[in-house]
Amino acid sequence: MNETTVLDSATIQSLLEEERWFEASKTFREKANTNNSSLYDMAAHNREEFWATMAEGLDWYEKWRTVLEWNPPYAKWFVGGKLNASYNCLDRHVKNGMRNKAAIIWEGEPGDQRTLTYWDMYREVNKFANCLKRLGVQKGDRVAFYMPMIPELAIGMLACARLGAVHSVVFGGFSPEALRDRINDAQATVLVTADGGYRRGNLLPLKHDADLALRETPSIEHVIIVKRGDFPLHVKEGRDHWYHRLMQEADAYCEPEPMEAEDMLYILYTSGTTGKPKGIVHTTGGYLTGVYATTKYVFDLKPEDVFWCTADIGWVTGHSYIVYGPMANGATQIMYEGSPDWPDRDRFWELVEKYGVTIFYTAPTAIRAFMKWGDEWPAKHDLHTLRLLGSVGEPINPEAWTWYHEYIGGNRCPIVDTWWQTETGSIMITPLPGVTRLKPGSATIPFPGVDADIFSEDGTRVDTGGGYLVVKSPWPSMLRGIYGDPERFKQQYWSKYEGIYFTGDGAKRDENDYFWLLGRVDDVMNVSGHRISTMEVESALVDHESTAESAVVGIHHDVKGQAIAAFVTLKEGYEADGKLEKKLKDHVVQKIGVIARPEKIIFSADLPKTRSGKIMRRLLRDIAEGKALGDTTTLADASVVEKLKRTYEEEYSA
Ligand code: WT7
Repeated sequence: MNETTVLDSATIQSLLEEERWFEASKTFREKANTNNSSLYDMAAHNREEFWATMAEGLDWYEKWRTVLEWNPPYAKWFVGGKLNASYNCLDRHVKNGMRNKAAIIWEGEPGDQRTLTYWDMYREVNKFANCLKRLGVQKGDRVAFYMPMIPELAIGMLACARLGAVHSVVFGGFSPEALRDRINDAQATVLVTADGGYRRGNLLPLKHDADLALRETPSIEHVIIVKRGDFPLHVKEGRDHWYHRLMQEADAYCEPEPMEAEDMLYILYTSGTTGKPKGIVHTTGGYLTGVYATTKYVFDLKPEDVFWCTADIGWVTGHSYIVYGPMANGATQIMYEGSPDWPDRDRFWELVEKYGVTIFYTAPTAIRAFMKWGDEWPAKHDLHTLRLLGSVGEPINPEAWTWYHEYIGGNRCPIVDTWWQTETGSIMITPLPGVTRLKPGSATIPFPGVDADIFSEDGTRVDTGGGYLVVKSPWPSMLRGIYGDPERFKQQYWSKYEGIYFTGDGAKRDENDYFWLLGRVDDVMNVSGHRISTMEVESALVDHESTAESAVVGIHHDVKGQAIAAFVTLKEGYEADGKLEKKLKDHVVQKIGVIARPEKIIFSADLPKTRSGKIMRRLLRDIAEGKALGDTTTLADASVVEKLKRTYEEEYSA
């Protein structure tokens, strides 16, 4: 039978009764890219040699002299090696008989379609690299992107990589102010955007929003606009250029720049514990090795697969598992512009059926939305081509796991629950589908060569039970720093434990040495799989004229995982009413973007603080989740929280 086997829990001694194990079918395992312990054994025997073997899957102009130089917290991988990421994603496939293979099968939200072969991508990337060059872009320059999900985004990133320019992609849902700050932090000289993009039948007015940002971005010399539709926009003579016009005049070939393994490939901003986003820096050789190897073995990628990662390229998931990992492997993949519920709630399943998707990678928040919409939507479609499912972004709750397995995977597809971060660059804790047995809710065990562990507060190893997730040895795709802020890099990741990477996540190890991710242990929220810091939202709120003080907490939400609750103390003369609540929510959207819109705003005359003046978020979370209050003994004034709880209950019980 070609079915995932559910092993009877009674046969596994050490298991608790309610625990279930899943395992890929015999056929799946037999055909898998790896189906025994050899990769784990190789990595356990010699980690550096293992990664060097993985790196040999790439094409290098010059081979490295040294696999790893490690001066904590600074790692250099494949020192002396030279390669080009765009060459690895395109030229080598074009040369190896894959020029006519579909690279990207794209569908726009309105239903328009384009298929770009490896040859097409190669030609477009070469030409666009020449366009950038003509505008003065050189190796090391930063190019910002503010784009919808269209092939030109991948083309633009690979064109940067071809020249050795550094891309900084800003998610199209971020606000103009967020775009401005990221452009300024990176000192980008060129911005690539589009007239607009489609989302739920609406227009994302990207160029219009970019224009607002561009009022305060002195480093930008040129703006390139891709024409996606017929969206109204302003073109500034001399600065703004149409993509298609530039491309008409561009030469067909651009020599790829041989990059040092440690040359910067990109910057990607992510939220940290302060209000200021961090520009995470990734370099070329190690990053490409990490995404290449994990795509091949975690997704068991084969030449005939149709791979679909539903993430937006504006997040790291899209960088690693749309652009670099799949393309370095010569994959055929689906790219979809729009929303999963447009025009109907079966759009994803329609796409899976239409293009015969075999591997599908999405986020738990999406799965929970599908569950809520009902089984009838996937049931309308033939999903038999699917053979492997993936999950990323937050812990997948066992209910969502089971639903995904049954209604999308037809009880046939293994699910790879993949834990990683913007900082880690590639997947770190994950099953290998032909090897690792699955437990719903657990990301299972570290990828070969990943030295993840669980530490207690004082730095001792936790054998079984909960603690902080750490990585004890460097890995090729690790971040190399925070752009322009070496102090913060050390402080954030390397100061809790000497020479050891601190992830910011809590985790538990069970009696089978499986890892269970428990969420962030710092002031970072995870809303629909997106990272937002409480401080970022707080500073957006106090930026409003009415707000004296605010405290933001992430609270449980059935679909989003977490939602944002904001406690706000108003200045004298402002009325706490529904109108102001809406204004404040809009203000946060304007400062950060819709992803940061607070679900609830709770007005309060005071906030609960410790005697030293620290806001007690734990209590605020209890209040906003309607729970009994935890320990209040450290409060300076216990009546504040009692009053707050009463006000809150009156307001939300109605
Ligand atoms: C944080 C990283 C990396 C891709 C998307 C998010 C959480 C991610 C899992 C998972 C439990 C997960 C962690 C992590 N997270 N994947 N499979 N199980 N938690 O990237 O924005 O950098 O966020 O997402 O809390 O630290 P990111």
